[in-house]
Amino acid sequence: MSNNNQYCPTNILVTGGAGFIGSNFVHYWLKEYPTNRVVVLDALTYAGNVENLKPAEGNPNFRFVHADILDYDNTVKLLREEKIDTIVHFAAESHVDRSITSPDAFIETNVKGTHELLKAAKTVWLDENPSMSHLFQHISTDEVYGTLKPNDPPFREDTPYAPNSPYAASKASSDFFVRSYQETYGLNTNISNCSNNYGPYQFPEKLIPLVISNILESKALPIYGDGQQIRDWLYVDDHARGIDLIIRKGKRGEPYNIGGINEWANIDIVNLVCDTVDKRLSESEKLKKQYPNAPVCLGKKARELITYVKDRLGHDHHYAIDPTKSNSELGYKPDESFVTGIDKTIKWYLDNEDWWRHIMSGEYQDWINQQYEK
Ligand code: NAD
Ligand code: TYD
Repeated sequence: MSNNNQYCPTNILVTGGAGFIGSNFVHYWLKEYPTNRVVVLDALTYAGNVENLKPAEGNPNFRFVHADILDYDNTVKLLREEKIDTIVHFAAESHVDRSITSPDAFIETNVKGTHELLKAAKTVWLDENPSMSHLFQHISTDEVYGTLKPNDPPFREDTPYAPNSPYAASKASSDFFVRSYQETYGLNTNISNCSNNYGPYQFPEKLIPLVISNILESKALPIYGDGQQIRDWLYVDDHARGIDLIIRKGKRGEPYNIGGINEWANIDIVNLVCDTVDKRLSESEKLKKQYPNAPVCLGKKARELITYVKDRLGHDHHYAIDPTKSNSELGYKPDESFVTGIDKTIKWYLDNEDWWRHIMSGEYQDWINQQYEK
């Protein structure tokens, strides 16, 4: 602890920093704390993308390490070498649909991987340097609480865990391991349980970027079931700011929920994204030339692409977060409104066509395999 009893990290390790939230967090952190050392450890799975870290390239305080959190020896070496005092742990398999078809990878990375990371942190911070101030900040999800029924109050930090998907079960399990390392060994930890994020660099298998990129190609917009499922949406920079507050001011061992106070039914979001993309394209000749297959250019509306499809198995109906604790203890509240956040996000995807086309065409995975062939 230093200034005003706040914890001030010096050298941070960001696992999963080449993914969506991790890369946004890296850019946030380097801007807010330019003298801190930021080391990214990422296995570059299909969801990891070194392009997401381009703005940090050349910064002498930034380093990218291509590695797996399952590799305990490598993490121990890295923690020693870089004198890491804070781990911000984003690395995970993160897509619910993939967890339904292939759950094993979720147990490997989210459960076993988190445990290997905890073991490495214990070795270096508790066994080798017992007086070192340190923090293991674990990034989790509101999905561990399961689904809300019609008259249930929003999720609080003391809402019992009731995960429904294999993804949520793997995250819940990792949360329990983090808690156990705090309680058993005295490792300093915090867990943040956050609602659905959106913003730049989100892999286009998730709802909002999928809808944006499909509109631009006039592809169907798949709505699972009746589209009335409700999520609480948070702009990704607001998540980064919430994590920052927990790192600096959070009580160690305490969980904190981070939410957007912004609940939307899926179909309403898809309609909003459709109308916003239509508007942006209809106002710009340049964009119309860039995206000739978009509905507006074919005399149609994006909403016409909406297609109701079979529901997701075990689909959680409603997530919502009670923000009281993070607001009263940390002073946290989201800055971005949904309308401005969605507009910024759509602008980012329109301006970064190469980024999402690489992913959609599958070329990216081949490229990355060539880059990192051993
Ligand atoms: P993402 O899928 O975009 O990124 C995950 C990153 O982890 C990728 O860069 C991937 O290469 C890396 N990774 C995967 N397995 C790895 C391994 N074994 N070793 C090292 N790196 C590995 O995920 P995201 O949406 O950015 O989510 C980040 C974290 O935030 C996850 O823990 C997720 O559970 C949590 N979370 C996400 C949301 C959301 O809305 N996306 C909401 C709340 C919490
Ligand atoms: P997603 O972005 O996968 O996040 P999560 O499942 O973690 O909440 O999905 C958000 C919501 O959108 C969820 O209720 C499932 C729904 N959805 C669709 O209706 N169609 C789609 O193609 C996708 C990817 C999601």
